[in-house]
Amino acid sequence: ALRASFASKAQTQDRTIHYNLQPQASFRVAVLGAAGGIGQPLALLIKMSPLVSDLHLYDIANVKGVAADISHCNTPSQVRDFTGAAELANCLKGVDVVVIPAGVPRKPGMTRDDLFNINAGIVRDLVSAVADNCPGAFIHIISNPVNSTVPIAAEVLKQKGVYDPKKLFGVTTLDVVRANTFVAQRKNLKLIDVDVPVVGGHAGITILPLLSKTKPSASFTDEEIEELTVRIQNAGTEVVEAKAGAGSATLSMAYAAARFVESSLRALDGDGDVYECSFVQSDLTELPFFASRVKLGRKGVEALVPSDLQGLTEYEQKALEALKPELKASIEKGIAFAQKQT
Ligand code: NAD
Ligand code: LMR
Repeated sequence: ALRASFASKAQTQDRTIHYNLQPQASFRVAVLGAAGGIGQPLALLIKMSPLVSDLHLYDIANVKGVAADISHCNTPSQVRDFTGAAELANCLKGVDVVVIPAGVPRKPGMTRDDLFNINAGIVRDLVSAVADNCPGAFIHIISNPVNSTVPIAAEVLKQKGVYDPKKLFGVTTLDVVRANTFVAQRKNLKLIDVDVPVVGGHAGITILPLLSKTKPSASFTDEEIEELTVRIQNAGTEVVEAKAGAGSATLSMAYAAARFVESSLRALDGDGDVYECSFVQSDLTELPFFASRVKLGRKGVEALVPSDLQGLTEYEQKALEALKPELKASIEKGIAFAQKQT
């Protein structure tokens, strides 16, 4: 399943327990927040990619051991560790993809927006360093609240004069991964075949799975639609409650983020058939940022997929209108935070 979901057909031929000593492509990837709950397994999964030549792991503490440990895996990429702000610039120089899972996670009873006060500043400072050191890189933002941290990142990049909206991504892959899993289980479908686009944002009702656009096509009763939609929207909270104070989703998140990294690297490598859902600058709705399927290419977002928002069911159309005020407020909160700093 890992092979099939991460790699193109041609690449899967080589992705067995046998690794070439040389990477198949020479991309540099940096993970900021690499010693954390997401960062560690994500770094391990990226270390498995044959497309990566250099893996840079950055955190404010505890990253040396993580890097030493992962570096012993006999896969092609070279692993280097970077600790603290003084080493951040060196971590970022020459990097093609920067993944940011730095920041605090939720505890039971909290919303993602409750993380804003701490994580907004962390994302601002890290993206500012990205702007200074690798302004052409793809930037993958995982830190919550994604609905606000992506607009913050955009403002910081604008202030630095290096904003390329095609290269800034809020990572919403976990919503798709969950939707695929829950739908396959509910409808007894083969997991690997199922693909459900999830649009909107990444918090509560802003997460909108478009079940009517499930592939292969499946029919759902009204009860199934309600039950699946609510489960997908609350899946993050399901994990937060199960972990009972020890954090939020880390392993499934690392899996999802690694898939998004691999898709980005395939696009950078010239694969012309790469689609993922992501929270990006968008003109699909009146909101400036919106998650939808995007076609990825060498320069980032090559195209949005407007047909995703056409022909929605009445349930989906209503849910789309209902999510807009909350998503708009979260976007504006992020922009206001970043503009206040200047
Ligand atoms: P964690 O606390 O386990 O790890 C966070 C790491 O970030 C720690 O190692 C910490 O040292 C590091 N960090 C803090 N400040 C930093 C800074 N200024 N520079 C670099 N690193 C810094 O948390 P986690 O479980 O890995 O979650 C991280 C974030 O990801 C949270 O905000 C969480 O809400 C979010 N998240 C997002 C999704 C999604 O779908 N987008 C899914 C799960 C979690
Ligand atoms: C998730 O969806 O699992 C993450 O956004 C973490 C959280 O706080 O729910």
